[in-house]
Amino acid sequence: MKELIFATNNKHKLQEVRAMLDGLVVVKSLEDAGLSGEIDETSNTLQGNALQKAQWVWERTHADCFADDTGLEVDALGGAPGVYSARYAGEHCSFDDNINKLLAALQGTENRKADFRTVICLIEQGVPRYFEGRVDGTILTERYGTEGFGYDPVFIPDRFAVSFAEMPPDVKNMISHRGMAVKALTAYLKTLV
Ligand code: IMP
Repeated sequence: MKELIFATNNKHKLQEVRAMLDGLVVVKSLEDAGLSGEIDETSNTLQGNALQKAQWVWERTHADCFADDTGLEVDALGGAPGVYSARYAGEHCSFDDNINKLLAALQGTENRKADFRTVICLIEQGVPRYFEGRVDGTILTERYGTEGFGYDPVFIPDRFAVSFAEMPPDVKNMISHRGMAVKALTAYLKTLV
């Protein structure tokens, strides 16, 4: 089976993406590939960051690999936090700090529309290819649920009655931004076998 190194230090994402690609490719973690260290994300676009992270692995291994970058884009905040979603409340902040800042920024705001967008960059034999996924939804006024990570407790996807953090992981994976991007990646990988 084809092997791909996933350029992430986020265990939740590794678990989600492994489950989604199970049976099609072997997803190796950075640790499995003998790599360690922080990977820079200095671009101001999701595509640029995904490329930067995948390139970090490619340069060190020359093995096929991929990386993803995700942003929460909130209408009333002009698309923020977007590419800065991980460090919205500052460098080294927690998921909780980010949610607190988001809820404060939206206090009293009627338009709570938002979307999650993911860009995956796959590097095969040095050539980058991009896959994208998006889910629209609403930012809640308080936290619901304990599953998932990041902004999951305050994001409710359109046409659903519960937050991402209240959904079983397989349901979230089926409809999420990353789920959609991985689906596009999967469709491409299936053309190769
Ligand atoms: P990353 O670029 O995929 O690491 O995502 C940047 C930030 O977006 C993360 O630190 C999380 O705060 C948030 N994020 C990414 N994916 C999700 C998700 O599936 N649910 C909730 N928050 C997410």
